[in-house]
Amino acid sequence: MLVDGIPYRTIWLGEDGESVEIIDQRKLPWSFEIATLRTSDDAANAIFGMLVRGAGLIGATAASGMFLAALECRKAADDAGFDKEFARLGEKLKATRPTAVNLAWAVDRQTTAVAAVSGIEEKIAVARHLAAEVADEDAEWCRRIGEHGLPSIREIHDNKGSDEPVNILTHCNAGWLAFVDYGSATSPIYAAHDAGIPVHIWVDETRPRNQGARLTAWELGKHGVPHTVIADNTGGHLMQHGMVDMVITGTDRTTHTGDVANKIGTYLKALAAYDNGVPFYVALPSSTFDWETRNGVNDIPIEQRNGEEVSRMGGAPDAEMSLEPEIEVTVVAKGSPVANYAFDVTPARLVTGLITERGVCPATESGIRALFPEK
Ligand code: MRU
Repeated sequence: MLVDGIPYRTIWLGEDGESVEIIDQRKLPWSFEIATLRTSDDAANAIFGMLVRGAGLIGATAASGMFLAALECRKAADDAGFDKEFARLGEKLKATRPTAVNLAWAVDRQTTAVAAVSGIEEKIAVARHLAAEVADEDAEWCRRIGEHGLPSIREIHDNKGSDEPVNILTHCNAGWLAFVDYGSATSPIYAAHDAGIPVHIWVDETRPRNQGARLTAWELGKHGVPHTVIADNTGGHLMQHGMVDMVITGTDRTTHTGDVANKIGTYLKALAAYDNGVPFYVALPSSTFDWETRNGVNDIPIEQRNGEEVSRMGGAPDAEMSLEPEIEVTVVAKGSPVANYAFDVTPARLVTGLITERGVCPATESGIRALFPEK
C-alpha cells in the first residue's frame, strides 16, 4: 500500500541479500522507521517485541527469520547437523507468540522444505525462496479477500438506496500492517473505497496497545478512507442506534469448526452485533486456519503479555504529533495488579461468515471444508 505516495510492503529482503527489512510498528504513527533483521534472534525479538505483529506478518517474519536461521546454519558439518540446528532455531521462533497460528505454520513449512533437499547451499536457497513465496502468497491471498468481501459491502450500499456511507466497525489492526499487503479485514474496505462505494470505518482504539488508534487509523488515513476512532466500549451503543452496518475483524487463529481467536475485546463486539442483528464477518487467509483444534474457547492458548502494556501507555505529548518523541505515562493506581490477556475467542455461532481468499463461507466445519476440501 502507499505511504505518502510510495508503495510499501511490511517486510522485504535487504539489498545485501542476507538481511530482512521491516517497518518498526512500535514507532507508528509518530514516525515511520525501517528496522533491519540480521539473525533469527532479531526476527524472534521483532515478533515478541511487536516491531511486527498481526497474523500474516508474524507468519511472513517467521518465514524470513528461518531464512536468516539457514544462513546461521551454513557452518554446519553436514546436512543432518544443518537440519537439527535449523529445527532448533525454528522452535525458538515458535515460542515467541502462542496464539497466532501463522507462526508455527511458516516455521514448519520451512523446516519441511529445507529437510527435503540435500546440500547446505541448496538448503539456504530453498529457505530464501520460501521466505519470498510466503510473503508473496500472503499479499495475494489478502488481495483476493478484498475481492470476495466487496460484494457484501456493495449489497449493503445498494440496499441503503442512498449515498450514505456503509458504516463498518473493525477491531484492532487487521490492515496491511498486520499482513504483507492489503490486510484481511481492511482489504474489502479498500476494495470498496477504490470502487467508489462510500464507506466510513468505526475504528476501535483497542487497548491495551491501541493497534486500532495507532495503526488502523494511520493506514486508513494514508489511503484516504473516512474513519472515526472510538473508545473500545462504544460499539454496542452505535449498534443499538443503527450506526453500524457490518463488523469486519481479522483473526489470529480460526478453528476448522469456525471459532475465532482475535484481539481481546472481539468477543464483546460479536455479542453486541448478534444482539442487534448486525452482520459480523471475519476475514482471514487459509494460513490462519487451525486444522486440528475443534473447540476454540477451551483449547486455543491465549497469550498473556506483560502487565505494563495495561498500566502504562505511550503517546505524543501534543495533539499535532509534531517533532516531540513519544512519551509513556502510568494510567493505573499505584500498586494495583493488572492482567493482560491479549486475545479472546468468539464462538462460531456469533460469526455471520468467513471471508477467505477462496470465497465467503459460513463459520462451520462443513462450510470451511467445502472451500478447502484438500484439508
Ligand atoms: O497482538 P497483535 O497486534 O499481533 O494482534 C493481532 C492482531 O493484529 C489482531 O488480533 C488482528 O485483528 C488479527 S491478526 C490480522
